[in-house]
Amino acid sequence: MKHRTLFVTAILTVAIYGCSKADDIIGFLGFRQTDNFPAPVYKLENNDITKAGFELGRKLFYEARLSRNNTISCGDCHIQTSAFTHHGHDVSHGIDDRLGSRNSPPS
Ligand code: HEC
Repeated sequence: MKHRTLFVTAILTVAIYGCSKADDIIGFLGFRQTDNFPAPVYKLENNDITKAGFELGRKLFYEARLSRNNTISCGDCHIQTSAFTHHGHDVSHGIDDRLGSRNSPPS
């Protein structure tokens, strides 16, 4: 029983630590130009990137209510941990498990 309590405590500690770390990683960083990408064509100075705008965009990106039957969000096909592709599928799936003709491109 003692081992079990210790095991559960260890799992919870890792889970809580892991979640706080994940928040650090995906927090708002503003726009950063990387060396391996061309400069953006979009005029960022006409529409500043703000923390509130970033958070709204992320919320909408994962909002399934934007789909016709409230089941699919952008993030379902554009999976962040898989370079925004629909990893593990030949083509992306939409509502009612309908198949498209392509997979979401990596970003
Ligand atoms: C049902 C799956 C699916 C959903 C849901 C979806 N996408 Fe896509 N997305 C795709 C596919 C497939 C492509 C590639 C289309 C092509 O190549 O013709 C794509 C392409 C894109 C591209 C172009 C990427 C590039 O590099 O050219 C953007 C941007 C994009 N999607 C944003 C979004 C946003 C924002 C949402 C939510 C509002 C969304 N997608 C929801 C499947 C999806």
